[in-house]
Amino acid sequence: MERADALVLFGVTGDLAYKKIFPALQALAKKGLLDLPVIGVAREGWTLERLVARARESLEAHGSFEAAPFERLAQALRYVPGNYTETATFDRLCAALGGAQRPVCYLAIPPSLFPQVTDGLARIGCTGGGRVVLEKPFGRDLASARALSRTLHAAFGEDAIFRIDHYLGKETVQNILFFRFGNSFLEPIWNRNYVERVEITMAEAFGVAGRGTFYEEAGAIRDVVQNHLLQVLCLLAMEPPVGPDTEAFRDEKVRVLKSIRPPAGADVVRGQYTGYRDEPGVAADSQVETLAAMRLHLESWRWQGVPFYLRAGKRLPLTATEVLVTLKPPPQRTFSGRAFDGGAANHIRFRMSPNVEIALGASVMATGRPGELEDVELFARRDPALQVEPYEMLLGAAMAGDSLLFARRDEVEEAWRIVDPVIADPPALRAYAAGSWGPVEAAQLIARDAHWHDPLPAA
Ligand code: BG6
Repeated sequence: MERADALVLFGVTGDLAYKKIFPALQALAKKGLLDLPVIGVAREGWTLERLVARARESLEAHGSFEAAPFERLAQALRYVPGNYTETATFDRLCAALGGAQRPVCYLAIPPSLFPQVTDGLARIGCTGGGRVVLEKPFGRDLASARALSRTLHAAFGEDAIFRIDHYLGKETVQNILFFRFGNSFLEPIWNRNYVERVEITMAEAFGVAGRGTFYEEAGAIRDVVQNHLLQVLCLLAMEPPVGPDTEAFRDEKVRVLKSIRPPAGADVVRGQYTGYRDEPGVAADSQVETLAAMRLHLESWRWQGVPFYLRAGKRLPLTATEVLVTLKPPPQRTFSGRAFDGGAANHIRFRMSPNVEIALGASVMATGRPGELEDVELFARRDPALQVEPYEMLLGAAMAGDSLLFARRDEVEEAWRIVDPVIADPPALRAYAAGSWGPVEAAQLIARDAHWHDPLPAA
């Protein structure tokens, strides 16, 4: 796919543009990759000067303002005023696009406005060579996700639709793939013969952070399990793609999702932290979960019988995202000092945030205690400050026409298929104390295999 020749930002005055898109654009400008006009569409009453001032404010708030690249971004900015319901808005956009043939249209707007905008774009002929970028949530269940895809497909082909799950834009998430497929030592053990269980924990110490109204419509399962956690699971569990091309990679992720049967009620725990109901925008009798834990089974040759535990929650003891792949213990007890009784000595640990490390858990002889075993970890650590930010990576990829890091329609729908029955018939909500690791039922869920690996604070 050819490089885009314009970037259109619907919702340029909104929160997403302020928090994520302007910093990403400045970072691209700094690398000389912002070689196209950036057209912001926003309601009447704004001016180009005000938009430039807003972009600058966003970068200052983000702590990344830099005069020279910002100047490049400011030079690229254009402003098209108008309401999305009016055809005149799209005529003005058409004029601002000049002869651009391959605009990337970023829909940083509520999904309810998508049909109007895609219709408007189709009318001015933007959909032929154009692309559309949108953010999760992609619907709120399987049926609405399909309806959304139909709306988008009325105007754009699947290869022109770039669905952002910002987890895929994280270097640490991509590193799972590099670690798995860039080495040969892991493959022989990366299966049911050696892996005992897999845990994925996304812990957040903060609550709904002023997004109570949004969260009431979502809950942890819709907000992060259906997308971020299942994406991480796919990268951990997928087969090597047949080649480096995008569709081969996405095909393998879809195969993983297809192998997962929806969890039974007993395999899911929903929790709510104490105090959630006092948050602004939250109902006094809210039944929305702020924590979800589930056990998933993959029906595949590689993973049959290996439980995958997923856990995501707000107001937990700390903020960290971590994967622990626990290997089976050695078959024979040769040494004293540590029993091979289901301990997590042999493991691979992917720490994805806030610090970045891949650790290999192993047992060695305890220093000064000959004959005894001691557990250690061998590390590869990376400086998180050097990482490319997800939105920079994803916007850059959408502009370059590279779909690898975006979710395909069938991927999104398969993920909904897995969680849909849980959403439709949710298990009872369990209260947990804010600042704890969740309700006792979440601990009981894993108890037959082990106990949860709780991520530690960053060293
Ligand atoms: C978003 C969710 O998709 O991801 C938020 O809507 C969550 O609820 C956020 O806090 C976490 O993202 P990150 O990159 O900070 O781990």
